[in-house]
Amino acid sequence: MQDNSIAHAAELLRQALSVSVLTGAGVSKESGIPTYRDALTGLWANYDFTELASPEGFQRNPKLVWDWYTERRVQLQAVQPNAGHYALAQLAQRYSNFTLITQNVDDLHERAGSRGVLHLHGSLMQTRCFFDCQGHPTMVEEADFITPDQDGPPACPHCGRWLRPDVVWFGEMLPYGMIEMAKHAVINSDVVLVIGTSGMVYPAAGLPHAAYHAGISVIEINPEETDLSQLASLTLRGASGIILPQLLEAL
Ligand code: OAD
Repeated sequence: MQDNSIAHAAELLRQALSVSVLTGAGVSKESGIPTYRDALTGLWANYDFTELASPEGFQRNPKLVWDWYTERRVQLQAVQPNAGHYALAQLAQRYSNFTLITQNVDDLHERAGSRGVLHLHGSLMQTRCFFDCQGHPTMVEEADFITPDQDGPPACPHCGRWLRPDVVWFGEMLPYGMIEMAKHAVINSDVVLVIGTSGMVYPAAGLPHAAYHAGISVIEINPEETDLSQLASLTLRGASGIILPQLLEAL
């Protein structure tokens, strides 16, 4: 019978020399940031996400989209990393090969002390030219934003056209080389932790599949069963802000 205990997970982690972690929105939930797919409170619950998270939606209504991300930026600045973020930053100290891969666009892993985080879906706090007028990506600092004459997003200081948040929208490619780096880390790991993701968005969700097919131990931490649960050699059911500190303690 499968032993889904913290002690068993700690044993796998003790034996590992190389560890990768994939996180999703669930890891930031206890900080007060809603997940995407929670039916009642999720970020997509009250909105048509194709309008808020696609280049076409942005072109249709740039002000609505810019304002929605501005609201999320303000919300992010008002919250703090939780015990799960801190536990992952501490876990990294135990390994010379440790890669933290996140789908989250928040900066809570970094604020908890994690370094070299691979942000598969970009960063909410960064901004670039929608047209990448100086080459892909054309990043723009907030100090250089040009306030628009009419309602809309600020203008690019290079070309005068719209700025956008540097997050990956539906139908867009991930940042150059990012998924390759993440996959390289995952398939060279002894243990892969999959935390707080529904596993519904690809290519990110392909990473636990790659680990599984390479015969690597996958440990899932999530209060709910997910599309990825069947790949896990071990599942810890609960909130990551509670489970991760317990796991660290058991190591
Ligand atoms: P989802 O909203 O799809 O899933 C969140 C997961 O977190 C669910 O499986 C929950 O059960 C779990 N969860 C809830 N509370 C938790 C807690 N306290 N501790 C641990 N887990 C908890 O979010 P993601 O899987 O991250 O993409 O979504 C993937 C992508 O879909 C996002 O990066 C975003 C979205 O569209 C882009 O913006 C490109």
